Amino acid sequence: MTDVSQQVRAALRQQLKTDRLLGLQSAPMQMPAAVTGGVVADTAQRSADALDNGERLRVLDESSVQGCTKCGLSEGRTQTVFGQGSATARLVFVGEAPGFEEDRQGKAFVGRAGQLLTKMIVAMGLSREEVFICNVLKCRPPGNRDPHADEILACSSYLREQLSIIDPEVLVALGSPAAKTLLNTAQSIGKLRGRFHDYFLSGETGVGKSIPLMPTYHPAYLLRSPSEKSKTWEDLQMVMARLGLKVKRA
Ligand code: URA
Ligand code: SF4
Repeated sequence: MTDVSQQVRAALRQQLKTDRLLGLQSAPMQMPAAVTGGVVADTAQRSADALDNGERLRVLDESSVQGCTKCGLSEGRTQTVFGQGSATARLVFVGEAPGFEEDRQGKAFVGRAGQLLTKMIVAMGLSREEVFICNVLKCRPPGNRDPHADEILACSSYLREQLSIIDPEVLVALGSPAAKTLLNTAQSIGKLRGRFHDYFLSGETGVGKSIPLMPTYHPAYLLRSPSEKSKTWEDLQMVMARLGLKVKRA
């Protein structure tokens, strides 16, 4: 391989890394294929994947979730809340269920807890647009009551499908119901947080592909108990380290 082609490969690799880090879906840098060989193909493939992922998420939302009546929560909702962000995100946050504001706006984590989540994401050196934010349940439980087991069961295939399309490197479960549901456990969030667990896409522990999952406190809980914020920041720093993001001070 010539020096020039090595340099071009190195430059493209760097761009790919940066794009991936930032969750960008930009068009690939134009380089002569003869020089760059398979690297251009890889970059083009990634852009195609981004389009595919976005399209697949859109179809899942519009064809399955929006009209869903698989559980009783369909009766009280204003609209479903699919979740939003990058279709190729390296990091996905999963909360419990839409609240009042989310039900009204059709977006995940846009109320007061959502504002704190935004701060947490920004403190990590990221933005809401480059991660993906969603919930276990896509419809608001009346009066924000805890989700029932049958509702979680009815809705869980949508989350699994979302996560298998996005295929993130790390998941963060926000709060006890999300963590317990995703990890199939009755352990408390206080016991679960602070270390990575495996989330199995199949829904069955030990079966098929898994994604590292960090459980942490829900931002709504942190609003009530601000002294616990430092623990969540420790959890998020572990997530940053796992993603190769520079760990900063809060
Ligand atoms: N709480 C959640 O768990 N999810 C939201 O989207 C908002 C508040
Ligand atoms: Fe369907 Fe989930 Fe909404 Fe229940 S909560 S109606 S399963 S989308």
